[in-house]
Amino acid sequence: MIEIAPSILSADFACLGQQVSEALACGVKRIHVDVMDGHFVPNISMGPHVVKCLKPVVATAGAMLETHLMIEQPERYLAEFINAGAELVTVHVETCPHLHRTLQQIRELGAKAGVTLNPATPLVDIEAVLENVDLVLVMTVNPGFGGQKFITSMLDKIRALRAMLDARALQRVPIEVDGGIHTGTLAAVVQAGAAIAVVGSGVFNSRGSVKANLDALGKAAGG
Ligand code: DX5
Ligand code: ZN
Repeated sequence: MIEIAPSILSADFACLGQQVSEALACGVKRIHVDVMDGHFVPNISMGPHVVKCLKPVVATAGAMLETHLMIEQPERYLAEFINAGAELVTVHVETCPHLHRTLQQIRELGAKAGVTLNPATPLVDIEAVLENVDLVLVMTVNPGFGGQKFITSMLDKIRALRAMLDARALQRVPIEVDGGIHTGTLAAVVQAGAAIAVVGSGVFNSRGSVKANLDALGKAAGG
């Protein structure tokens, strides 16, 4: 069964806690926080303060906060995000010349370590660190904005990554996908081997309630 990680990037920030609570009330177990610096990606989003404010809301529901760092030199901010309450920190291979060290730092600071890669980045770039991660995030859009179109060719990448992990006896490492996931694309990523799907505009939108949107995603996934 695929796990949905709502991305708050598309939430209404005037009532962020309420929107997150609505998702948690539906049984969501992870909330995805997209951190953007205006350098690595063209957009600017949010920082550790948002993680800190959401932490008690999320923890009370027995769920966790994951941070997707789309920022240059992410190692400068690891401690801040983890101290604020991030339980999983995912960094981009494109921003980490010393990726192994950065992943090690995340774990030493007490969080789980995730690695991610842009659609144009080949899997070989993360191959050497697969033993050192708790999750691999496959970007299925170019990072920076919510509401973009799913890049279909990423399905092959998800399949190849699952095979690569299994060949190394890394069945414990889940594949998460991020970008353009909605009721029309969810089943395909599940079939390709994704275990966790980040969904932003498909959960927080004006078309339906958070509950109605999550229910529709559950049906689309086959559950
Ligand atoms: C994109 C972010 C995503 C984004 C997904 O750069 O990493 O997490 O919120 O949004 P949707 O689901 O709308 O594509
Ligand atoms: Zn994300």
